[in-house]
Amino acid sequence: MQYQPLSYSFREESVRMALHEVKLCLLGESGVGKTCIVNRFVSDLFSEHESLTVGAAFTTKTVRVDDNSILFQIWDTAGQEKYRGLAPMYYRGSSAAIVVYDITSERSFNEMQTWITELRQLGPQNLVLAIAGNKLDLESSRQVSTATGETFAKNANAIFMETSAKDGHNVQELFKEIAESLPLDKIALENKSSTLKLSRSSQKKENNCTC
Ligand code: GTP
Repeated sequence: MQYQPLSYSFREESVRMALHEVKLCLLGESGVGKTCIVNRFVSDLFSEHESLTVGAAFTTKTVRVDDNSILFQIWDTAGQEKYRGLAPMYYRGSSAAIVVYDITSERSFNEMQTWITELRQLGPQNLVLAIAGNKLDLESSRQVSTATGETFAKNANAIFMETSAKDGHNVQELFKEIAESLPLDKIALENKSSTLKLSRSSQKKENNCTC
């Protein structure tokens, strides 16, 4: 019996798997649980006393869908009103966005609707949109029914899930569904053309260099 060297099967695997880098941002009112959703997704952790996000926080996680590896580049934006003007910096160039509301807060649901309208008008054309009704574990304090969330998401052509960052309900599933909805061929093309533009502009700079 002949043994394959370990490195052989590893190389085979990486050749077969296509790696896609996907920028994703989270938006929504302050306190709805955006950071906690990201922490649950990336590290399977939850904190009852999560501090307010300042500006935006960045993290990554890779998920696998069939023969594709999707490297999510996650921008968790700050929900406080004073940071609202920064949001376009994060949603422009994103391939996916999750707009989060808190099922115990009707106000956060209204804010989510405003975000969806803005994203549909000013966001990228092929943006995969997802709506997360978070804090599902606080069912007894619910102010927004599941049906209301579902109907709004359907009309907005968005993925919809109710989640709990606290107990983890539907958090992995949410990102998986987004990953499965991504137009990976288009994203690969866009990534290629922006790399080309970058290398051309750095080449120009090198040619103009007087040092
Ligand atoms: P900003 O950073 O201000 O935009 O807020 P955020 O949307 O990132 O909210 P964050 O993740 O910081 O959570 C706010 C509070 O809600 C924290 O005290 C969390 O512990 C709590 N929280 C977040 N998700 C859940 C959840 O699913 N269930 C419950 N019960 N509490 C949650």
